Amino acid sequence: MSAILETRGLTKAFGAVVAANDLSVSVAPDTVVGLIGGNGAGKTTFLNLVTGYQKPTAGTVTFEGRDITGLAPRRITRLGICRSFQIPQVFDTLTAYENLLVGLGIVSLGRRAFVGSALGDQAPEAVAEEMLQRFRLGEWRDAPASALPEGVRKLLDIAMALAVKPRILLLDEPTSGVSADEKFALMDLVLGAIRADKVTVLFVEHDMDIVRRYTERILAFYDGRIIADGMPDRVLADAEVRRYVTGEPVPGGA
Ligand SMILES: Nc1ncnc2c1ncn2[C@@H]1O[C@H](COP(=O)(O)OP(=O)(O)OP(=O)(O)O)[C@@H](O)[C@H]1O
Ligand SMILES: [Mg+2]
Repeated sequence: MSAILETRGLTKAFGAVVAANDLSVSVAPDTVVGLIGGNGAGKTTFLNLVTGYQKPTAGTVTFEGRDITGLAPRRITRLGICRSFQIPQVFDTLTAYENLLVGLGIVSLGRRAFVGSALGDQAPEAVAEEMLQRFRLGEWRDAPASALPEGVRKLLDIAMALAVKPRILLLDEPTSGVSADEKFALMDLVLGAIRADKVTVLFVEHDMDIVRRYTERILAFYDGRIIADGMPDRVLADAEVRRYVTGEPVPGGA
């Protein structure tokens, strides 16, 4: 099956720091991929490069066979790659419902045809209501985003990204700031809502129980490089991953 997303030699240097170092990754459609790695390993940088928030120093990003390297974030969003952020990007003074409408409106700016084709016959208002339902945000519909608990803000941010019907959704630490006993419920909800649309998902996560449970492939980052890539059980058992990422002792190792 041909890749929906492919990077080749993707590199980003910030002065002497190489935050992404020659990353070549190919992602098949309809997969859920986990990105793991310690602080500063380069996970967010990878998402920034794919979504156009940062321009690579070298290398390419290909989406559905099309070179999207260096395109503006808004263009990449229109093409079908959306994201949520490590810190939810919601408008505090607007209600949950209004936030969803704004998210839909941004995509429609200057190019209504995209919304038309992406949303089918649905009006943006109907899509916003549908997202509130799917993400069980109904009770928060008319509450200002500033009043939402962190987990709910995360959900809203993700719902805003999914509302425009992307082909790929990139989530940066969807469960951070959410209590341990709420993480699984949040991910069940998020991935349930997402998978109904057959969206390819890449998400950054520090909790290995979450990664193990929800992904079919893991990319392990360390120092700007991908040090392991494959099935979750194999990657999490990898000696380098245990040493540099999860901090678990290697059985029989030093
Ligand atoms: N805009 C920037 N300017 C300078 N250095 C940066 C910039 N963005 C990231 N870096 C550096 O690049 C490296 C990778 O950072 P990145 O944010 O991608 O890590 P991360 O894996 O997402 O970490 P975390 O788990 O803490 O979110 C770090 O050394 C970071 O300090
Ligand atoms: Mg990060």
